[in-house]
Amino acid sequence: MDIIKTIEWKDNKVIMLDQRRLPHEELYNTYEDYLGVAKAIKNMVIRGAPAIGVAAAMGTALGAMGIGVENFDEFFQKLSAICDRLGETRPTAVNLFWALARMKACAQLNKELPIPEIAEKLKEEALKIYTEDLESNHMIGRNGEKLLQDGMTVLTHCNAGALATAGFGTALGVIYSATNAGKRIHVIADETRPRLQGAMLTAWELQKHGIEVTVISDTMMGSLMKQREIDACIVGADRIAANGDVANKIGTYQVAVLANRHGVPFYVAAPLSTIDLDIKSGNDIPIEERDPKEVTHIGPIHITPDYVKIQNPAFDVTPAELITAIITEKGVVEGPYENSISKLFN
Ligand code: MRU
Repeated sequence: MDIIKTIEWKDNKVIMLDQRRLPHEELYNTYEDYLGVAKAIKNMVIRGAPAIGVAAAMGTALGAMGIGVENFDEFFQKLSAICDRLGETRPTAVNLFWALARMKACAQLNKELPIPEIAEKLKEEALKIYTEDLESNHMIGRNGEKLLQDGMTVLTHCNAGALATAGFGTALGVIYSATNAGKRIHVIADETRPRLQGAMLTAWELQKHGIEVTVISDTMMGSLMKQREIDACIVGADRIAANGDVANKIGTYQVAVLANRHGVPFYVAAPLSTIDLDIKSGNDIPIEERDPKEVTHIGPIHITPDYVKIQNPAFDVTPAELITAIITEKGVVEGPYENSISKLFN
């Protein structure tokens, strides 16, 4: 089932599928230093919260291999600078900061070892983060597929599939698990302007897995819900606050509002690494503002008048009250989320 390899550690290099070239070209880029990995995250060669976390961990491991000092304090200072550089790339997906914190903690835990051995431990930790994410996705899939019935049409927004994770996916992982269990699921992928992850990535990935998929523009979902052509919505997450508010790709909020209006269940699928207990509510989640060109242009074509004002927030926050359930590797939780989420960490 894991037929898409988004990211891989091979011969002390990091290999990434260049998602900017999909769906028309499968190009793999090789990175030999952490700066290359940082640029790849920033420029969206790799994207999706869990995949960004894995890339940051592998970038840190690459960086650690190149630190030529013998004393731990000096090593840790340089490692922290590498983590800071990787952390500057994308502000919303908490998996990035979660992975960097884990890498720093791993270095501290092994501080008594010679530096080359600490670098080796960091490589092992990055691979562990990768493997754990893959396992979590399969568990999310198993937990979530019970919510889907044979014959359902499910709408998803953005891409929360194998491409956005170490593999398999969160929201799409639930769909893959349902189809593996013999259920026929028709997926509606909205295109997800401005970067079109739904049209370009989700449709490609689902087709590759042999799952029936229909692409719609973002403007069509309300009408389809009104006509009862959508049975459920399922999306991923970039950061979940302690109260259950969910930051995800811009446009997720309107999916949730429309689903609520039409009585369609709205599910969020995400690993615990996406839950940020330090953030009380969605109001405190930093939202990335991206290049206006993503709005003014479709591909190379300039579609807006010159000098018009542009806003381009990459994420929005869906309030917890609009979320039917959050599907995690530890189980499916419903509101009130303060209680149910905190229990997941016990
Ligand atoms: O800007 P992107 O493409 O990194 O945004 C990705 C999303 O919003 C995904 O839906 C989210 O990260 C969930 S990924 C499993």
